[in-house]
Amino acid sequence: MLTPRDNERITRVGRGTAMGELMRRYWMPAALSTELAVDGAPLRVKLLGEKLVAFRDSAGRVGVLDEFCAHRCASLFLGRNEDNGLRCVYHGWKYDVEGRLIDQPTEPPGKEFKDRIRLTAYPTIERGGVVWAYMGPAGRMPPPPDFSWAVVPESHRFVEKSWQECNWLQALEGGVDSAHVGWLHRTMGSLTSDPGVGGIWSQPRTTADEVEETDYGHLYASTRHLADGRKWVRIYHFIMPFHVQFALELGHGESGWTTQERYIPQASGNMWVPMDDENCMFYTWTAKYGVEPLTAAERECRARIGGRGPGEQLANYRKRRNKDVDWMIDRAKQRTATFSGVDGIATQDHAVQESMGPIVDRSREHLGATDRAVVVMRRIMLDAMNTIEQGGDPPGVGNSYYDVFARERILPGDADWRTELRPRCFRKAAE
Ligand code: FES
Ligand SMILES: [Fe+2]
Repeated sequence: MLTPRDNERITRVGRGTAMGELMRRYWMPAALSTELAVDGAPLRVKLLGEKLVAFRDSAGRVGVLDEFCAHRCASLFLGRNEDNGLRCVYHGWKYDVEGRLIDQPTEPPGKEFKDRIRLTAYPTIERGGVVWAYMGPAGRMPPPPDFSWAVVPESHRFVEKSWQECNWLQALEGGVDSAHVGWLHRTMGSLTSDPGVGGIWSQPRTTADEVEETDYGHLYASTRHLADGRKWVRIYHFIMPFHVQFALELGHGESGWTTQERYIPQASGNMWVPMDDENCMFYTWTAKYGVEPLTAAERECRARIGGRGPGEQLANYRKRRNKDVDWMIDRAKQRTATFSGVDGIATQDHAVQESMGPIVDRSREHLGATDRAVVVMRRIMLDAMNTIEQGGDPPGVGNSYYDVFARERILPGDADWRTELRPRCFRKAAE
């Protein structure tokens, strides 16, 4: 539970808000690299409540600029991306990727005032198939976002995105809540070919979670006890401010998780990037860390699990199964095939999180033992906002904290995950 004041503080991200200023200290995913072609159409991007436009110039550089022209504020989304700059279609003013006005054709020769104009432009970097922008104070930029998943070859990586119509934090909270997986995402028996979880995921009593604070956020171990006396331990990492990584090593079938005891060094994860207070962009990735690349079937499986199979997305990455159509919940399927009746694992997450309303009122909650990772995460964030307000640096930005790995193993019942599994989380997964 949070007080109404803390709930406001922790969810709102506009410039000048406590969380907004904290967010601005990290690299923010702005677009997928594939969305921006050289001299291609500019893209509207909303980040932390700011309306921006992204484009890739003739030299391949990416600009993320204020959406509105400095002249009379026409949208540069309409602009012409040509010859190393974005030209406003209203009167022809043209900007480079750093927001400099490089042509002002409406002014008489010698009377231009180009040098006095600078459009807001954020530094960008590309890693892992994602364009990242830094919107924070100059001189406080963190190291490049060299996450373990972002530095594997493209052949070993999958990344996609989808628009989620609720506040970023209630979405992120689903990412550090292992207990829901065996319920919300459950499939029932062999009746269905829908992606989902069965077998050892659906124990009647779900998990025992242990949370350990780290200098980048927290890691937590989620333990499920198996009928044969062993236990299945999965490690999740929460990395400030909105990243979650989870293990995907145990035999992963094409219709979801299976329980073959075959470990593939791979992980998956999500980022819930605030567009504004009531919308976020959900980025999801999978990375293989060994020699083998991701196969076409595995990519397709990830897309299907993510609810982004063929025909599943509308314009602007909106889900076809969105809140206006009650996520297309199918009551017959809910009785016979899937626990939720909603198709697609990510769509199931989006449905419950969007169903809470645009910003959930956390003063009404009743948290239990399996919400521990959520509670610790909120405290880390509330502390980090105080740190920023006192002029300090939030967790992780001072040194690179990107090289962590999510792991899982089935261990003997009396094994200690701290000695058996934890060390693997800080070692290259392929080793
Ligand atoms: S509004 Fe853009 S050039 Fe005039
Ligand atoms: Fe989920």
